[in-house]
Amino acid sequence: MVQFRRHRRLRRTAGIRNMVRETHLHKEDLIYPIFVKEGENIQNEIPSMPGVYQWSLDLVDREVEEVVGLGIPSIIVFGIPSEKDDVGSCAYDTEGIVQRAIRQIKGNHPELTVIADTCLCQFTDHGHCGVIEDGYVQNDETLVLLAKTAVSQAEAGADIIAPSNMMDGFVAAIRQGLDEAGFEDIPVMSYAVKYASSFYGPFRDAAHSSPKFGDRKTYQMDPANRLEALREAESDIEEGADFLIVKPALSYLDIIRDVKDRYPLPVVAYNVSGEYSMVKAAALQGWVDERSIVLEKLVSMKRAGADLILTYFAKDVARWLEEK
Ligand code: PBG
Repeated sequence: MVQFRRHRRLRRTAGIRNMVRETHLHKEDLIYPIFVKEGENIQNEIPSMPGVYQWSLDLVDREVEEVVGLGIPSIIVFGIPSEKDDVGSCAYDTEGIVQRAIRQIKGNHPELTVIADTCLCQFTDHGHCGVIEDGYVQNDETLVLLAKTAVSQAEAGADIIAPSNMMDGFVAAIRQGLDEAGFEDIPVMSYAVKYASSFYGPFRDAAHSSPKFGDRKTYQMDPANRLEALREAESDIEEGADFLIVKPALSYLDIIRDVKDRYPLPVVAYNVSGEYSMVKAAALQGWVDERSIVLEKLVSMKRAGADLILTYFAKDVARWLEEK
């Protein structure tokens, strides 16, 4: 008989399969996004994201307590202000929705790691991530406002600053702003590699942050590009980033692997809103098995090199891991 290898020996029993499994998901890997909204008595389910809610501050503790109870170590906070203007003033207001949310959540749950998303698009009336002049997003003017936003979030008690705006030099500007304000120990989790993706659609419903004109292609990356991702990651590291986010996750597993292989920083996969909604929609139809699909997707992100996963499925995954 011809010689061949019997790979199936290591698949014969569940016990052996467990022994040789190379990649594991842990609760410690998870970061859960929370949307906070100005107002009272609000728990609005986001129509395109079943199971995900906008919360007013008087109710948000319910959500936070659930997250903490499930053993999820970290959340990222997104804010929906009641007022917007052309320079996103509410993003860096000490009494802004994000700042108040962070103060409240850290006050009640000091052990929970709270990450602040640092961007202007939820706070500008035109919906872009920076200041506009002549129809174009102005890089350097925007940096000043981003640094102010980051400092106000750190003052409110944020443990990590996560800038998602994709201006050039945003890590340097924020690092300098934090250092000058005495926050040299607060890390920057940079959305280093962020593509101009159609997978953000449901998030923009959730956060009311769609651009009112044009798109984000002059600052977010072209999905066709790989080397550009390495340039982005490299400059963020030079500027002082402590974590690197790749976003979205699933269509960009190759990029996660590239970044992980080249740079010695923790890599975060952002499993974005569209990736969530597509699974939810199919699961609600009974077309896929939600639990096994989600666990397969998340383990593939870790296999690709992600150390952490930012996901709207975090609570479900924490529950499923408990049941196992
Ligand atoms: C803000 C921001 C976006 C997301 C996170 N921060 C949207 C965007 O760039 O329009 C998307 C997250 C998701 O889709 O889950 N800049």
